[in-house]
Amino acid sequence: MDRVKTFVEGFDEALGGGIPRGSVVLVAGTPGTMKTALTFSILYENVKAGSRALYISLEESQEDLRASMTELGMAGLEDMELYILDIGRIRLEHKDEELAKNWLDVLQKYIEQRVRVNGFDLIAVDSLEALYSLSRIDNPRRELFHFFGFLRSLNATSLLISEVPSGSAGGFGRYDEEFLADGILHLKQAPIGDTDVQLRIRCVKMRRSKHEHGDFALVRTGDKFQITRVISK
Ligand SMILES: Nc1ncnc2c1ncn2[C@@H]1O[C@H](COP(=O)(O)OP(=O)(O)OP(=O)(O)O)[C@@H](O)[C@H]1O
Ligand SMILES: [Mg+2]
Repeated sequence: MDRVKTFVEGFDEALGGGIPRGSVVLVAGTPGTMKTALTFSILYENVKAGSRALYISLEESQEDLRASMTELGMAGLEDMELYILDIGRIRLEHKDEELAKNWLDVLQKYIEQRVRVNGFDLIAVDSLEALYSLSRIDNPRRELFHFFGFLRSLNATSLLISEVPSGSAGGFGRYDEEFLADGILHLKQAPIGDTDVQLRIRCVKMRRSKHEHGDFALVRTGDKFQITRVISK
């Protein structure tokens, strides 16, 4: 099967080779668990390997995003087939229209057109919660079913960032995304003793894959992400 590599050292093997192409995958995690950095890096590394990618940022500006990803060691962003759509800027430029628009519809039309014209094969949305806050969703399960179905109908793999409130009882999305998604990657900060935390990643589910289910420590060293096994006593 054709798979999209995460290029996180060690993790693609744990996923059974990578993410099946065409999947809709949630990247879920509490604040500051590197959801943005990891997702962006998956796009970045794939673009270096020949993909064309669209990163849709709903709240972080293109400039801020580029700057922080460059700081993390992702060089040459200006000259790559990695297109950043900065919805924040469009919103600021069209303040009056903001409330009138249903961004779930707007985004769907935009993605459809751009995938047709530019041939993007990787799409990221950062984040679903920001998208919901701009959309009127009357029947979440039905509307998200159609949105996920739309993403699946594209010839692209989608990564959707899902913000999990810290201290929440569980769940990887506000509505029923966890059931609609083909895969879930969960990022969390695990307490180590009384004073420390360790960033961890876990593949909760990945349809069509025989993957590992356990936690791995996730670290960014130099210009790459890698995982190491967590040994519990
Ligand atoms: N090399 C590194 N190793 C570990 N953590 C780092 C490194 N560089 C930056 N960070 C941390 O990563 C965090 C930010 O990552 P990122 O913005 O991707 O997280 P996020 O989950 O998207 O956050 P938010 O919930 O605000 O959207 C910051 O807390 C930053 O200090
Ligand atoms: Mg983020």
